[in-house]
Amino acid sequence: MTAGGRFITFEGIDGSGKSTQARRLAATMERRGIPTLLTREPGGSPGAEEIRRLLVEGDPHRWSPETEILLFTAARRDHLERTILPALAAGKTVISDRFADSTRVYQGAVRADARAMVDTLHDLVIGRDPDLTFVIDMDPELALRRGLARRSGEDRFEEFGPDFQTRLRAGYLSLVRDFPDRCVLIDGNRPEDAVAADIAAQVGQAVA
Ligand code: ADP
Ligand code: TYD
Repeated sequence: MTAGGRFITFEGIDGSGKSTQARRLAATMERRGIPTLLTREPGGSPGAEEIRRLLVEGDPHRWSPETEILLFTAARRDHLERTILPALAAGKTVISDRFADSTRVYQGAVRADARAMVDTLHDLVIGRDPDLTFVIDMDPELALRRGLARRSGEDRFEEFGPDFQTRLRAGYLSLVRDFPDRCVLIDGNRPEDAVAADIAAQVGQAVA
């Protein structure tokens, strides 16, 4: 089996180390000679990056969970059409820092009990799930401290507070149980190098 055309995503609560690990895995893949595209959500295409600003900045209550579902899904459709599908078709491995599982957990389970709306919309306009998803699990208080330490100005979701992050963590653990074939739970409470080595080994096994 070749590694080309595989779609890999990173999920987890804010500050769990997804971006760090997505970047490191992309570098590892390139070193292994596997053409790779690193992308992220919300964003990953020019249009979706514009929608991102509406979502991650400003008052925590500026959108209802239902409106968020529509905005995240609109951004995802653009990202899929313009960035992900063309790269997969060209044989690249695509690594995305967040994808549809974030909507399942944040909007579908924690911001609201809206999983049916999330799933229906996903089936209608996205219709694609990753081949492999790393869910980085870690202590919410530590993750929140890491996240807020960045002071990126994109803290709208972090500002829902520690209880929100605790519920997100539970939401992700439940997601892993829902999709056991593609989800791998990773212990993020370890030094960066140990987490990266674990992930690289898992991908190596999956493509061997
Ligand atoms: P996320 O994308 O999940 O929000 P990041 O990868 O941006 O998380 O990491 C959040 C912060 O924590 C960054 O400042 C990053 O350098 C740091 N960090 C990432 N992984 C680790 C780790 N394993 N141990 C300690 N700090 C980490
Ligand atoms: P991101 O930039 O990945 O934040 P972080 O690096 O802090 O994890 O994502 C921005 C925020 O958007 C994040 O708090 C999670 C949230 N989000 C959703 O609520 N639903 C979604 O579908 C996506 C993709 C992100």
